[in-house]
Amino acid sequence: METKLLMPTEAAIQEAARLLQAGQLVGFPTETVYGLGANALNEDAVRSIFAAKGRPADNPLIVHVADPAQLDHICEVTDTARLLISTFCPGPLTMLLMKKGTVPSVVTAGLPSVAVRIPSHPVARDMLAACQLPIAAPSANTSGKPSPTTAQHVLDDLRGRLPLILDGGECQVGLESTVLDLTSPIPTILRPGGITPEMLLTVLPEVKVADSILRPLMDGEKALSPGMRYKHYAPSGTLSMVKGKPENVANLILARAREAAAKGQAVRVLAFEEHLPLYEGVETVCIGSVENPASAAQRLFATLRQADDDHIPLLFSEVLPASGIGLAFMNRLCRAAGFTELDADAEAAK
Ligand code: TXA
Ligand code: MG
Repeated sequence: METKLLMPTEAAIQEAARLLQAGQLVGFPTETVYGLGANALNEDAVRSIFAAKGRPADNPLIVHVADPAQLDHICEVTDTARLLISTFCPGPLTMLLMKKGTVPSVVTAGLPSVAVRIPSHPVARDMLAACQLPIAAPSANTSGKPSPTTAQHVLDDLRGRLPLILDGGECQVGLESTVLDLTSPIPTILRPGGITPEMLLTVLPEVKVADSILRPLMDGEKALSPGMRYKHYAPSGTLSMVKGKPENVANLILARAREAAAKGQAVRVLAFEEHLPLYEGVETVCIGSVENPASAAQRLFATLRQADDDHIPLLFSEVLPASGIGLAFMNRLCRAAGFTELDADAEAAK
């Protein structure tokens, strides 16, 4: 199958809508990451999503709609959900609600709840409005790769497996949406994202954050969300996070880089703009300013993909405090690093 990459003109949006109505797959931009969409009410179309990604059938999908009114058709919309919709939607928030019989169980992997979201990206909204369907869409990467934040990433991963990708440029948030479980007595964040715990607490009296967000699942521990059970993306090289005072972090990394250089190994450092001068002689990638953690979130996946494309064997990354969008950034970084964190202050004190 030939995969077309189109700018999101009116004609391209209409073509996407026609394909979706005909049970085909479309790659499309959202404010978080690119999605791989199909008609959520068409079982065969949904199955083809799992096939194209190589995704395990027991990992459920998010259903995207243009308008909150469409949600009543697919799930039980609670008062809390209505409050969150009026405050944060359209936007990077996914809510777990009890599903209705209209949603085929292949979408939810047999679970009684369904994940729903109203994206804010104008191209996603135009496409959803044009097809007038709820669209099931996971991130448009092949399983085991980072979520795509450009149309080119989608093409790199899925060329030949879908007829059309809409090119909406770089995604603004760059990390997947916040997944909030509204079926538990206290709303619980299963996956942190652009809508932070702090933001949710401005309208909800209480929010829980699943405590496995910054640590690996323990032996025998049950994942709250099927997605947390799977091995997450990790770069092909070895990635270590380094925490501590910026000078100590840089010194530790420089020492490791010298050892690596002696063995002929290339090193790349993900560093904040303010710290770049500390890394003379080592290759750095700027992930934005410490003052603007959202920029680090936006660039993380593209930076990791690039490191793979460049076959970098050793990667080091500076870290952020795990608050605000920093929680989502650290959640993805921890997983990509297999939770390997070096303590530069402890090292310096030795
Ligand atoms: O930002 C996003 O959410 C992107 C864009 C395309 O909207 N989508 C995305 O989908 O990240 P995906 O499939 O890559 O991640 C969905 C996550 C998975 O971890 C899945 O296990 C979880 O949501 N999930 C979906 N339905 C669920 C359910 N009923 N119960 C628990 N977890 C669920
Ligand atoms: Mg995904």
